[in-house]
Amino acid sequence: MYVCSCFGVTDRQVREHQEAGACTPRQIASVSKAGTDCGSCVRRIQGLLGRGACPGRQLETAAQEPAHAPVPVPSSTSVAEAA
Ligand code: FES
Repeated sequence: MYVCSCFGVTDRQVREHQEAGACTPRQIASVSKAGTDCGSCVRRIQGLLGRGACPGRQLETAAQEPAHAPVPVPSSTSVAEAA
């Protein structure tokens, strides 16, 4: 079945690209051009890829988040010991 009629990309081709490591519509577009013309297929491609199927994306997201180092909170015991 065609997923992207602008470039004649099928769901099978999207699956093959996914198995080869493409896990976002953008990555599918970079290897097949699907989604780069009218864009009406991007949601279908996203649906085929599913959510959470891209472990690298989670790492990218985590890397982009600001670092929040936990601030050590002294316990009442250590405060009492310091005084
Ligand atoms: S249907 Fe895929 S870009 Fe138009």
